[in-house]
Parts: sequence; C-alpha cells; structure tokens
Amino acid sequence: MADYVLAIDQGTTSSRAIIFDKSGSIVSSGQLEHEQIFPKAGWVEHDPEEIWKNTREVIGQALSKADLTRHDIAAVGITNQRETAVVWDRNTGKPVYNAIVWQDTRTQSIVDRLAKDGGVERFKQKVGLPLATYFSGTKIVWILENVDGAREKAEAGDLMFGTTDTWVLWNLTGGTDGGVHATDVTNASRTMFMDLETLAWDDDILAAFDVPKSMLPEIKPSSGVFGTAESSSLLRETPIAGILGDQQAATFGQAAFDTGESKNTYGTGNFLIFNTGEEIVHSKNGLLTTLGYQIGDEKPHYALEGSIAVTGSLVQWLRDNLGIISSAPEVEELAKTVDDNGGAYFVPAFSGLFAPYWRPDARGALVGLTRYVNKGHIARAVLEATAFQTREVLDAVNADSGVDLTELKVDGGMIANNTLMQFQADIIGVPVVRPVVAETTALGAAYAAGLAVGFWSDLDDLRKNWQEDSRWEPQMEEEERERQLRLWKKAVTKTFDWVD
Ligand code: G3P
Repeated sequence: MADYVLAIDQGTTSSRAIIFDKSGSIVSSGQLEHEQIFPKAGWVEHDPEEIWKNTREVIGQALSKADLTRHDIAAVGITNQRETAVVWDRNTGKPVYNAIVWQDTRTQSIVDRLAKDGGVERFKQKVGLPLATYFSGTKIVWILENVDGAREKAEAGDLMFGTTDTWVLWNLTGGTDGGVHATDVTNASRTMFMDLETLAWDDDILAAFDVPKSMLPEIKPSSGVFGTAESSSLLRETPIAGILGDQQAATFGQAAFDTGESKNTYGTGNFLIFNTGEEIVHSKNGLLTTLGYQIGDEKPHYALEGSIAVTGSLVQWLRDNLGIISSAPEVEELAKTVDDNGGAYFVPAFSGLFAPYWRPDARGALVGLTRYVNKGHIARAVLEATAFQTREVLDAVNADSGVDLTELKVDGGMIANNTLMQFQADIIGVPVVRPVVAETTALGAAYAAGLAVGFWSDLDDLRKNWQEDSRWEPQMEEEERERQLRLWKKAVTKTFDWVD
C-alpha cells in the first residue's frame, strides 16, 4: 500500500496541501493565499475559481517537493473553512457569485426577517444553531434574492450549493463531467438546514428559508469514500475518503475522540470544541451544538462549540489596516516592549460578537486609553483579546458540561506566540498544552481519509501518534486574574448597540 495520505486544507486565508506519513508527521506541504475581497463594510468574499486553481497548484507543490506521485498516496482528505457559501451552475461549473465568507454580516436583515416568527432560537432545538449571519443558510438566501436569474435557475435545478469542501470535492472528482456533489455531517451541521438527530436536510426549515433542496449536496459520514479524483488530476483515481470542517478536523487531529475531550484552535478566529460523545447537548451558555465527526455508518459524535470570530485576523488588521507591524509574528516583539497592556483593552467585534454573546449589534472598541498608552500596549491588548475571549468561552463550556477542564489542548498559527500562550494559561488558570504536530487541522482530515481506506486501522492507532511538545503553566495571582477579567468584561459592554 502507498505510504502517505494527502490532506487539502481549504482555509479562510489560504489553501494548503499537506502530505503525512503513518506516524502523523509532515512529509511535505504546499500553500497559496487567496485574495480577501471586502466590497463594503461587513462584506467578505472569496473568488471560488481562485480557490480551486490554488488547490490544484498546492497539491502539485506538495507532491513535487517530496518527489511523490499519486501512487504514493493512499487517500485524500479535505478540510475547510466552514459556512463559507459557494453557489454555482451545474452545467457550466461557474460560480454565480463570489463565495460569501463565514465572517460576512450582510445577511442581518434576512436573519431579522426569519427571526420575526419565533426569535433567533427558532430552529435551535433541531439544528443546534441560533439564527445568525455566520452560518451558510442565510448566505444562500442572499444569493438567491440578489443575483440576477439565480432564483429561476435554482428552481429549475440548475444551481448547486456547497461549502468549500464540496466545491473542491466536486471539481476534484470531475466537475461538470460527473463531479460528486456531497459534503460531510460536520459541514452540513453549519448550514442551519440539517437535523442533528436524523442527519438529513430538514424540509420545514428549507421551506422557511425558501431554498430548493435540489441545490444541496448529499450528506455523508466524515470518514468514508466520497469518490475518486478525475483522470486529468495529479491525484487521478486516488480515493477522496474523508471530509471534516476545519474545527472538527483539528479536534480529530488532536485525537480528542472521546466524550469530555476538547481542543482550542487559534486561526483567523478561535474555536473551542468540546466532544459530548453520542449525546446532543444543548447549551445554556451561548455555545453551539454541532457534529463532531462520523466514521462510516457508526453513530455520530456531537460537540459543543465556542466560536470566536476575530483573533488571528486582528493581528492581520494591525498589519494591513494600521501598518503598526509589517508581519504577523512582529506583534509579539512589539508586545514584549511593554510589561502589560497599560490599561488598554481591545474588543475586536468586527463581525459583531459570536460566543458566548451572539451580539450582531456589537462593533469593535479599543478602550481604557490614556496618554500613556503606546503601540506596544496596543499590540499587547490585541494578543490579550484572544486570551480573554477564550476564557469566556471556556467558562461557558465548564458551565454547560458541569466539569471544569483541567488543561487546554491548543493548535493553530498563533500558538507559536509564547507571550500569548503564557497569558492564555494565566487568564484561564489551567495549563495550556501544545502537541508536536501542530498542524492538527490537516492531520485530522488525513486521519479521517486514512481510516476509511485502512491506512490506519482504528482510533487507537491514531491516539498513539499524539505527543506533547510544550506546556505553559499559569503564573498569575488569582486576584490579578479576576481584576483583568472584570475590566475585559466591562470593555465588552462598550461594544454593544453600535448598529443603527
Ligand atoms: O467557522 C469558521 C472556521 O471554520 C474558519 O476557520 O481556521 O479558516 O479561520 P479558519
């Protein structure tokens, strides 16, 4: 059998291909960023064709860097930015509009319209999610209502919807020439349309949104064969055998397979996922109920999720919009020029606030400023914002689950930042733990695909691959921790009611 598995990670800022060996170590990778399109305040788009072109290229990069061919690849896994909606014409393969990204808030009026009858929790019992601009459902409605001819084409069965996993899968398996139109349970659970119990599209909700079912992909288990790569692909005939939304993939890559296990990913945003096993747990504290994973025809695992919209992207904003730093890692150097935040708190409510507040009316605020504050303090406040938001989500997880987490497993780009990781441990009061393979998102997709084709035999095989790399112990006094948290919460209240 071939010695490797290839994972495609179609993320918010870039697309990557990473090749893993049996020990879960990275053999080679390719990466390309794509354009972030901001047509108006609150709007965020990607070009789906650029994403597909980049995906093909990074697969080539990863294979050629390691001097490998498709014969060396046992299976392909896909993981993706979730909720980002692509709608395309099944006859031409062309998107009818740019992808509307998960961070985009343009659909607030659609949310309000749907919430008139029953409030934002109208469908929560069934789908685990409140009505919010975050999820793909209202983004599809926006396209149907605002793109010329889209509604008619959709009614005629000519349009397909997919999150970017589905877009990549369909193209990779042949596109207009027999491409597979499918997604997995984790991605489907982010649309607002999937019943958590039946794992099927819900006709009543589709009727309320006025979205034709013919547009939707088939829902399949996360680990299982979806199709094989088409003949002109570098991966020709290789099975695509796993799909997981990126946060669920990271959970899988951290080997957090069992009830009570969790992870926190520091990406564009932060996402804490807590595995609730076969039980569907409804949050009383602002968390989402979502699918964790499903292996073949086994029972699915569910999870509670604390989603934070803006963490790493705040560092990018500092770089791109303010120019205070010229590269993202510089934020740590700048933060280290000062001892503390100088009294400044930065609440990055750029897409409103997600968990645990769910306040679409919130907008960002930098508060506590005095003449004393300099750019070092602002850099520190930027890093601390990530840690404070995580603390609030962790409190919600502890309250919902009734057990306090004794450590936090972390992954994602920002965990290279020691200053942030130390402050994170300080502000949550439990150790923060980083694994050796920090690319857990891609690894999780590789695991799902490898399991399906027998490359790995079972979950125990995967658990053995997890190894601790570093650990940060809390050092802050309890009194100071509580003082900091009090000020942070006060800062959060300053962001509310900002939308006219
Ligand atoms: O829900 C959005 C999430 O899936 C995006 O993750 O890592 O691309 O920022 P990331």
